[in-house]
Formats: sequence, structure tokens, C-alpha cells
Amino acid sequence: MLKVGAALILLAVLTMFSTATISRGLGNLKTAVTHLSYFEKRDMRSTVAFVPQKGVLRPPDTLSVPVTGKDFQTDRAVLEATFRNPEPMSDSSVARGQRKFLKTCIPCHGKSMAGDGPVAAKFVPPPDLLGPQTRQRADGFIYSYIRHGGAIMPSYGAQVTAQEAYDLINFIRHQQQASPR
Ligand code: HEC
Repeated sequence: MLKVGAALILLAVLTMFSTATISRGLGNLKTAVTHLSYFEKRDMRSTVAFVPQKGVLRPPDTLSVPVTGKDFQTDRAVLEATFRNPEPMSDSSVARGQRKFLKTCIPCHGKSMAGDGPVAAKFVPPPDLLGPQTRQRADGFIYSYIRHGGAIMPSYGAQVTAQEAYDLINFIRHQQQASPR
């Protein structure tokens, strides 16, 4: 009897000094007593709030060129006539373009670029990007399609930065040369 009493007192003392209490988020008395070492910061109520808008945003330096903002020129006809791809054709640019294409474009255009992606069957099948029609298109036409959308193709300006569009154009051109259809 004495032993039981001592054990109960010990348990009560332990519970007092442990961090586990019902008010700290342990749903009921049983877990409060049995989870004596419950870590108080594990409860979402008492974690430190993350306030991203209070972080420090570095202003762009004076020599930077924005590549993620809006394009000044969105007119397809003007882009067709004046756009020159500023990214030279290189293995790394083609590789970056391929990676982006596999992530963003294959749902409709398909891995083979023939316009047979899984979404195309339920949407409008796009033309073969390696076919004669797209091979004749100006770089500016492809750029405006990617960044601003086409007749039916949605705009991918929010998902594809200007730099990524340059790489995509290099990738499409590279594939058109390597295996035209
Ligand atoms: C939601 C489906 C969809 C996605 C995703 C998509 N496209 Fe398209 N795309 C189309 C359709 C449909 C057309 C043809 C209809 C049109 O002219 O709008 C098209 C047309 C094009 C054309 C014009 C071809 C021509 O010669 O007329 C280009 C270039 C193109 N897409 C590139 C891309 C690239 C690059 C991506 C990835 C960033 C992409 N598309 C993602 C549906 C899509």
C-alpha cells in the first residue's frame, strides 16, 4: 500500500515537472500522463511563425537584366520579324531546353514532339513540332507561342522564363535538324 502511494506521488511529481500537459496540446489526460517527455515545440501551436514578407529582399544590382518579368513586346507579328534568340546554340542550352520540354510541354506535344501527348487526345492535338510547318516558323513565332500562347495553346509565360524559352527554341531547332519529319 505504501509502495503504491509512493509510486503515485512520484508520478504526480514527474507530471508536474515534465513538459507534457493538456494545455500544451496533448489531447487528453491519458497521453499527458503517459507521454512524460512530450516535446513542447512539437505542437504546431507553439512553433515559431515563419513570416516570409519580413525577410530581406535584395534589390537587383544595376547591371542585372530582368528575365522573369513581363515582355515589352508581345505582338506576334513584330516578334516574328525582329526576335533573335540571344542564347547561342550549345549543348548545354539544348540540354536545358530538353529538360524544360520534358517537364512542361510533353503533356500535349508528346515525348516525340509529334503532338501525341496524353492530354492531346482530350484537348486539341498540336501540330508535329518536327514537321515542315513548324520548321519554317521564325524563332520569334515560337517564342511568342511559348510566352504568350497561341490560337489554342495556353500561355506558358508564367511557367517558362524568357531564358528558358531561349533554351526551348534551341532544343526544338536542334531536334528539327537532327530528325526532321
Ligand atoms: C495544354 C497543351 C499544350 C501544352 C502544355 C503546350 N502546348 Fe504547344 N501547342 C498546343 C496546341 C493545341 C497547339 C496548336 C494549336 C495552336 O496553334 O494554338 C500548340 C502549338 C505550339 C507551337 C506552334 C506550332 C506551329 O507551327 O504552329 C509551338 C512552337 C508550341 N506549341 C510549343 C510548345 C512548347 C515549347 C511548350 C512547352 C513550354 C508547349 N508548346 C506546351 C498545346 C500545348
